[in-house]
Amino acid sequence: MLSIKDVSVRYGRSVEALRNVSFDVPEGEVVCVLGGNGAGKTTLLRAISATLKLHRGTITSGEVEFDGQRIDRMDPARIVEKQVIQVPEGRQVFGRMSVDENLRAGGLTASAKRREIARARIYELFPRLEERSKQPAGLLSGGEQQMLAIGRAMMTEPKVLLLDEPSLGLAPQLITRIGQIVTQINQEFGTSILLIEQNASMALRVSHKAVVLEVGELALQGNAAELAESEDVQALYLGGHGGHDSLEHERVDSQNRPPRRKLGVWAG
Ligand SMILES: Nc1ncnc2c1ncn2[C@@H]1O[C@H](COP(=O)(O)OP(=O)(O)OP(=O)(O)O)[C@@H](O)[C@H]1O
Ligand SMILES: [Mg+2]
Repeated sequence: MLSIKDVSVRYGRSVEALRNVSFDVPEGEVVCVLGGNGAGKTTLLRAISATLKLHRGTITSGEVEFDGQRIDRMDPARIVEKQVIQVPEGRQVFGRMSVDENLRAGGLTASAKRREIARARIYELFPRLEERSKQPAGLLSGGEQQMLAIGRAMMTEPKVLLLDEPSLGLAPQLITRIGQIVTQINQEFGTSILLIEQNASMALRVSHKAVVLEVGELALQGNAAELAESEDVQALYLGGHGGHDSLEHERVDSQNRPPRRKLGVWAG
């Protein structure tokens, strides 16, 4: 569905932020991208949403395809129309607008009826947001703002949702909740998700596939459950020492893995 093909990215003349990165996000799957600070995770999302230009970045080689069509030279607005939707780093909500107004702002292109259906489904997914629907978004907690940012993106009925570190700065319980939301969106809405995360244990738990970036290069990719068991990933990203003990609480159980889903179930 979404294919990143041999993509290299530079900022200005000197900084090479990605080098020959290739992987796919298959329809109906959750794929996570792991990697430390500066590994190129956000750059990868910008390459997909065609927003590199805004940051003086360019794709120097390779291409990005969505449904067989090259999208990396399109206008960012066209990519949004194709329902490939990015939730940027850092919970960007309109602080003075109410929760409800934030959601309504997310669905400007759809018909009024579709927007109503989408909004009702998003409130089902995030009951906390419905309780606070009249409050200014700026008064929500960090976790609630993250949920609102995701909810607003869901108003556009995405085919692919690009999430940039949704768990950043959140307490452990909320990180678990974000993981559940990713699974729910994938299963109930049929949305494919590219999940950028530094929280490897959560990300590997909720993903079908995983990609590891190290200083701009793809270091590893594969089935998420298998990567969670790999000694390299355990040592580097799961705080383990190559053994299994440290993963006792986080052990990925393939029985609990979200099933592969095909179809979107947006009403409309
Ligand atoms: N606008 C920019 N101009 C120049 N260099 C940039 C720009 N944005 C990012 N970079 C550089 O590109 C590299 C990758 O950055 P990127 O933001 O993609 O990393 P990241 O994996 O998202 O990191 P983090 O986890 O800290 O968000 C870094 O070396 C960074 O300094
Ligand atoms: Mg980043």
